Amino acid sequence: MRVDVLLGLQWGDEGKGKIVDVLTPHYDMVVRFQGGPNAGHTLEFDGQRIVLHTIPSGIFRENTINVIGNGVIIDPFIMLNREIKQISAITEVKPKLYISEKAHLILPTHRLLDAANETLLGINKIGSTLKGIGPTYTDKIGRIGLRVGDLLLSNFQEKYDYLKNIHLRQIESLKFDYSTVLIDGMPFAEYEQVWHEASQTLKSYHICATEYLINNALTEGKKILAEGAQGTLLDVEFGSYPYVTSSNTITAGVCSGLGVAPNKIGTVYGLFKAYCTRVGEGPFPTELFDDIGNRLRTQGNEFGSTTGRPRRCGWLDLPLLKYACMLNGVTELIMMKADVLDCLETLNVCTQYTCAGKTTTEIPYNLSNGVLPQYEQLKGWNKPIDVNNMPSELMNYISFIEAYLGLKIKLVSVGRDRKQNIIL
Ligand code: GDP
Ligand code: IMO
Ligand code: MG
Repeated sequence: MRVDVLLGLQWGDEGKGKIVDVLTPHYDMVVRFQGGPNAGHTLEFDGQRIVLHTIPSGIFRENTINVIGNGVIIDPFIMLNREIKQISAITEVKPKLYISEKAHLILPTHRLLDAANETLLGINKIGSTLKGIGPTYTDKIGRIGLRVGDLLLSNFQEKYDYLKNIHLRQIESLKFDYSTVLIDGMPFAEYEQVWHEASQTLKSYHICATEYLINNALTEGKKILAEGAQGTLLDVEFGSYPYVTSSNTITAGVCSGLGVAPNKIGTVYGLFKAYCTRVGEGPFPTELFDDIGNRLRTQGNEFGSTTGRPRRCGWLDLPLLKYACMLNGVTELIMMKADVLDCLETLNVCTQYTCAGKTTTEIPYNLSNGVLPQYEQLKGWNKPIDVNNMPSELMNYISFIEAYLGLKIKLVSVGRDRKQNIIL
């Protein structure tokens, strides 16, 4: 068997949580391979709305095992107190959850460093979620990070204090005063205490070498779905650097983030919104600053699932989408939030850029400067979508995108609930 992959083709928040939840009944295992609590994946069913950050979105289906792979980074406090507590009111988590011993830990001081770095950057800040993502992956690559498996060692506290002191010296050298900084609403010392308590609780979960769990499951013929976090345009290699996250959000990240060989990758589901959004700083060629942008934000409820920040909105950008399909080896497309366009008479779609007097469909090195999107205009359907009789303008929109990308759209999502989908 192979691992199927589902990931975002834009700047995150494409609706990955919803579709993983929809697809989970077809899988034995749902696994996260990168990112951490910077992710906010929303699921809606039976009138309930749940936002997951670290826990895979397969957790609500009874017979599915959920795995947090080695490429993920974990904040024990967020995972236990902000997620598992909420999920436990609906379903039992512990028997269904396996955590890689090699997943790195986000320490409270990583979060202080994240805040310090952003403060230092000033107007050039990344717009980080302030969950400590950049500093934790920095320590991983710098080979000084702490891993979940370290929690089980008798000298964990010693290792923790050593790394904490390195961080405090870094913070001091940045002249960052953290005395008034609140982490999840708490002063540093209080957060550190609840973090340690959560870390102790984490030890009672299934902590193991998940690379064996996953590869053994494949050998036994089990079906596995890898759930991406963030989106392709936030990938540290190919995203709009430096306005990116610190992990590989693309299909390649599945191999290193789970210990799965490249020849074991199966179907790659690429998700995109019928328009574009971005939260945080960084270039966004098709961004709308007018009334249409505001309407997309209101209709689409485009406010961050993790931070509550308003998301920037704009037209669909096909050169970027094609780039994302190429990088990920997408085999099936899923278009999200088509219903949000119900209110528009005409739809613009970016098909190329002009840049330094030339037109191009390739992504320029610097997306920030002088990149002007060129649009084709299509007729909008301008009415609520009837799922049994899809408007011809929506069918045209779909055909236009499919022709440009050379791939088929297999599912169109038309609402927040797990039942609101059109299978094509
Ligand atoms: P993720 O990070 O990719 O899982 O996406 P988020 O959960 O951060 O953001 C997607 C938002 O859109 C959530 O609030 C979803 O409930 C919502 N959503 C998902 N699919 C649809 C859809 O087809 N239509 C509408 N209107 N909302 C959707
Ligand atoms: P999901 O999985 C949207 C953005 C942040 C910021 C940049 C770096 O819900 O799609 P970081 O905290 O990672 O250092 O922030 O990346 N970002 C996301 N934007 N969806 C996400 O996750 C994101 N995770 C990080 O806003 O611009
Ligand atoms: Mg999200």
